[in-house]
Amino acid sequence: MSQPIRWGIISTGYISTSFAKDLLVDPATRDVYDVKHKITAVGSRSVESADKFIEGLKNSEGVHSWGLTSGVLDGVMGYGTYEEVFNDPNVDVVYIGTPHTFHHPNSKAALLAGKHVLCEKPFTFDLEELDELIKIAKEKKLFLMEAVWTRFHPIAYAVQEELFSGKLGKIKRFQADFSMDMKPETADPKHRMLNPDLGGGSLLDMGPYPSVWAMLCMQHHPSNQNRPPKLLSSYQTVLKRTGVDLNSRWLLEWEGVGQGLLLTEMGVKGFGPMTALVQCEEADLAIHWPPYKPESYTIHTHPQNRDSPETQAVTHHVPIHPGIGMHYEADEVARCLLAGKLESDRMPWEESRIVQGWFDEVRKAGDTVHKDWKGHAGE
Ligand SMILES: NC(=O)c1ccc[n+]([C@@H]2O[C@H](COP(=O)([O-])OP(=O)(O)OC[C@H]3O[C@@H](n4cnc5c(N)ncnc54)[C@H](OP(=O)(O)O)[C@@H]3O)[C@@H](O)[C@H]2O)c1
Repeated sequence: MSQPIRWGIISTGYISTSFAKDLLVDPATRDVYDVKHKITAVGSRSVESADKFIEGLKNSEGVHSWGLTSGVLDGVMGYGTYEEVFNDPNVDVVYIGTPHTFHHPNSKAALLAGKHVLCEKPFTFDLEELDELIKIAKEKKLFLMEAVWTRFHPIAYAVQEELFSGKLGKIKRFQADFSMDMKPETADPKHRMLNPDLGGGSLLDMGPYPSVWAMLCMQHHPSNQNRPPKLLSSYQTVLKRTGVDLNSRWLLEWEGVGQGLLLTEMGVKGFGPMTALVQCEEADLAIHWPPYKPESYTIHTHPQNRDSPETQAVTHHVPIHPGIGMHYEADEVARCLLAGKLESDRMPWEESRIVQGWFDEVRKAGDTVHKDWKGHAGE
């Protein structure tokens, strides 16, 4: 067993809390014995918030309490700036859980300070920002990955195995949706989902999830040979109150394989039972809700008689191991660091670049306040 990977966490909001809690779960509960985690630093814009965050972790219960008696939090430091985390010699890798528009400056600062980085989705505001981070990671020989946790969930592997076995026949078409009704007409306009300065809107926030299923099912399908799709068309509805996108839709074509329609929406509740549908010659595969963490899928086998509406449906359950499900991506980071890798084979830079490229194209073709915004590459 190797030494634990030492995590520094910056920001103390919702997602950083979920991530940090999952580092407190015993890896053995997910059959992981080759890597271990430790949290050595937490940075916030206020030291009180960092200390409160650490205190909250120390009061964890249930599966999240294992780390308390196993040294995961031993010696953890709370800081009132992010820079102190970047400069802490007891930190190997920084987890970045700030709002979208800070992903680039925060990741850049961490890399320049010599730290490996796991950054929340969407990786950056635009592709130029992402390319700058990749360049720095290469130059400084540091690991860098977008925290697309869903890619590492057991169901992601199960769905791929099912599709790639060829049992369902040739792939025909794909659709995926992440919609929720967050009452955008009355919700606080400063909320990060609505606030343009924080990169608000459905595309950047929710877009990574239909995209992850498109990448896993279509891009990775053996019949595609990893060729990136063409973006055929897109549309965004503007939320007039704040100028961000209320919804985005974009249509992709993997040449010779099929088309994929991807949807995000902040003003409509998603269609409960299903988040993505892969239609194949012999059967359809429906991935269940929610898009970020489904735990089951159903194979609907087409009837022999095409006039019959009857299909045979078999549901498969692939649950997350104890915890929220963010520990899998942490394990991947730890394994990559131990192997001296700069990027993950499962979530490589090029795949983040492809998805970030879609977001750029959709945004530039739309009419939101972000249409002509540029990120902070070079600053
Ligand atoms: N993987 C997932 O499933 C998932 C789920 C939700 C969110 N996310 C991603 O995680 C990121 C954060 O989302 P969240 O829901 O955790 O947001 P949140 O609860 O609002 O937390 C964001 C944190 O960022 C820090 N921050 C720094 N500058 C800020 C500013 N100007 N305004 C507000 N906060 C600022 C704050 O921490 P300090 O005050 O401690 O500095 C704040 O607590 C987003 O990029 C989002 O896309 C991912």
